Amino acid sequence: MNTSGGWKRLESKLAATQERVQSLEWEPARRNSFVAYTVERDSAYAELDGRRLLMMSGYSYLGLAGDERVVAAAKAALDLYGTGNHGVRALAGSIPLHEELEAEVARFAGRERAMVFGSGYAANVGTVAGIVGPGDTVFIDKYDHASIVDGCRLSGATVTRFRHNDVDHLARRLRAADPGGVRLVIVDSVYSMDGDIAPLPELRKVCDEHDALLMVDEAHALGVIGPVGGGIEDHFGPGCEVDIKLGTLSKAIPSMGGWVAGPAALIAHLRYAARPFLFSAALGPAQAAAALEALRILRREPERVAHVQHQAERLRTRLNAAGLRTQNSETAVLPLIAGSDEAAYDLATTCRENGVIGLPVVSPAVPNDLARLRIAVTARHTADDIDAAAEAFVASARACRILPA
Ligand SMILES: Cc1ncc(COP(=O)(O)O)c(C=O)c1O
Repeated sequence: MNTSGGWKRLESKLAATQERVQSLEWEPARRNSFVAYTVERDSAYAELDGRRLLMMSGYSYLGLAGDERVVAAAKAALDLYGTGNHGVRALAGSIPLHEELEAEVARFAGRERAMVFGSGYAANVGTVAGIVGPGDTVFIDKYDHASIVDGCRLSGATVTRFRHNDVDHLARRLRAADPGGVRLVIVDSVYSMDGDIAPLPELRKVCDEHDALLMVDEAHALGVIGPVGGGIEDHFGPGCEVDIKLGTLSKAIPSMGGWVAGPAALIAHLRYAARPFLFSAALGPAQAAAALEALRILRREPERVAHVQHQAERLRTRLNAAGLRTQNSETAVLPLIAGSDEAAYDLATTCRENGVIGLPVVSPAVPNDLARLRIAVTARHTADDIDAAAEAFVASARACRILPA
């Protein structure tokens, strides 16, 4: 590498990252990050080094990633529009597909209007920083996604964290807050690392008592919770609404992109105020078409949602019966707690030897000593897959002494 003074000043940071990776992935068999699995389009399996492995950490909750209708819609859009949109939406980048997709998202979210971003990350950063600024206050759950945290940082608003899913703590924070400015409370509908659900009725009540807006990130809720996969409002039923809904098109919806839905006036504002929307290229035609088709399939085939919920419950029951901890998970995300970062890597490596992919999540993404495998159940998993996975997880946990042998 170039040894100029400029690079020398960066050296210690680059070395620290290398050291951190090496401390967990010291040999090829322990490599768990950036592994290029060849995922089969029509099953829950993936291939690595000539071995067929059961994928238990993918996010395609509805099993639509390889769906031929979704693929056909993407191909048709490629034929019609080509591969890119040549710019930002506000200038030359908009195509009719974006408007159709936004109308479908708004309809699905049950809101007046929606807009789509290049990713869920961009949707969070752009929406938060587009709504609040200096003089305003944002209240975020301790386990909110990093993109919410980054949106808060960009906004310049005062940021206050409350304890995870602790509404009393939020109420105390609201009481102590600056009386002026906009107050925005943001939670994940389903927490990506724990699989638990935000307590919407209590949150709504506290927000109303303190003149605060309530925004939810539906990334792991859309297509997964509620009788028709409608997310957190569908889960809790009528009478309990959020103010601003946001999500991704990269998980249950097997594409790329993010969205926000709300009153027309909010979206009209965000189209000019959300910087990652205004200053970043439009969502590609194939990705927009894939997302649109998948949303339509979700509306027509709610049985996919019931299947995911059923299989997730089956896995949770089996793991808990064997003594494995899955925190307060009640969704398709199941954290399999290993303990230390190294223990999570040991467990992931042993699982892979036993034919199952369960990817480790370590600190600082999760608290120290709560490193885990982040398991996700999808509509591709059959009952046999779930039973095979449970058996492999339990056998691997015993081999790693997370469970008694
Ligand atoms: C809760 C949550 N919000 C937002 C995102 C970002 O979504 P995207 O991958 O589309 O940028 C993620 C991604 O993992 C997530 O888990």
